[in-house]
Amino acid sequence: MKSVIVPQKKGLKRAVQMINDGGLVAFATETVYGLGADFSNPKAVAKIFEAKGRPQDNPLIVHLAKSEDATKIAKDIPNEYFLLAKKFMPGPLTIVLNKLDSVPDIVTAGGDTVAVRVPKNPTVRKLIELSHPLAAPSANRSKHISPTTAEHVATDLGESVDLILDGGECKVGIESTVLDLTSKSPTILRPGAITAEMLLSVLTSVSENHSTTINVAKSPGMKYEHYSPTCETVLGMTLESSMLAYDKAKSQGKRAVYVCLQGAKQKFGDRHTIVLGKNIRDYARNFYASLRFAEEHFDYIIIEALVETGLGSSVMNRAKKSAGGKFV
Ligand code: TXA
Ligand code: MG
Repeated sequence: MKSVIVPQKKGLKRAVQMINDGGLVAFATETVYGLGADFSNPKAVAKIFEAKGRPQDNPLIVHLAKSEDATKIAKDIPNEYFLLAKKFMPGPLTIVLNKLDSVPDIVTAGGDTVAVRVPKNPTVRKLIELSHPLAAPSANRSKHISPTTAEHVATDLGESVDLILDGGECKVGIESTVLDLTSKSPTILRPGAITAEMLLSVLTSVSENHSTTINVAKSPGMKYEHYSPTCETVLGMTLESSMLAYDKAKSQGKRAVYVCLQGAKQKFGDRHTIVLGKNIRDYARNFYASLRFAEEHFDYIIIEALVETGLGSSVMNRAKKSAGGKFV
């Protein structure tokens, strides 16, 4: 069956019914689109793994209507959680806490912790309030590029999700920051729009767990390939190396494209480019949609590398994974 895309407000009532009946609903958040099911219904949650082709050992984030509801699924919640919630929730921050026994194993992949997040989208929070907290990963096929429009979801999961609530384009464009509050010191397991610097306005220390040294048991999702276009993709470390790689690919008969900011485009001559915008925020917001466009129209993608500070290091985390660690 083909999925139906409905404007989110119009589809709200139907979505509540579907979640209560154990179905799947895709929805917009400020980061990327999510694929949600009632977190308390293991059969419904199992459908998420099936629809995405997601490995069973990768836990899901539980999306709440309000940050206080964490007390219904987690225990021994440290004071830092409430301080962070006050400042950053609703917003693109996910926090890992010790779970209550009532949270089904399938949600946490059998682990003792649960990840919680309060999305900004008011219609989605209403959906959660009127049905259940939603266990939800990004609404893409496992390993593929995360979706930032309703159409992206339909392209990837059209046959297996019944209802897609269209909330327009995602404003942030990369997934939430995942912060673990169950280890000795607060640790970023996945960087996002809430940066270490921002977290330090509330916390006294933050460790950053870089993907090369990541503790796989702590952040199971990090060991998998992610955000991969269907064609060859590399990170272009400098303008010069990117031009050389482009010209070489072209001489081999490949359709090459450079995905970059406005500033770099101007120096790239009459070669094919996809412009992400003027600044790092534009880069993050347009990154996934541009990769989806690029994989459809080209067969060799070069992604412009940015300086790895603040949001720049979060988007480079995604860019490196899209390129599978390959660079020119
Ligand atoms: O912005 C987002 O976080 C989006 C939207 C839909 O909310 N969701 C998202 O979900 O990106 P997903 O499943 O694609 O990525 C969740 C990441 C994975 O790397 C997973 O391993 C990690 O969070 N995670 C989930 N539960 C965890 C836990 N209990 N402990 C450690 N890591 C966890
Ligand atoms: Mg994902």
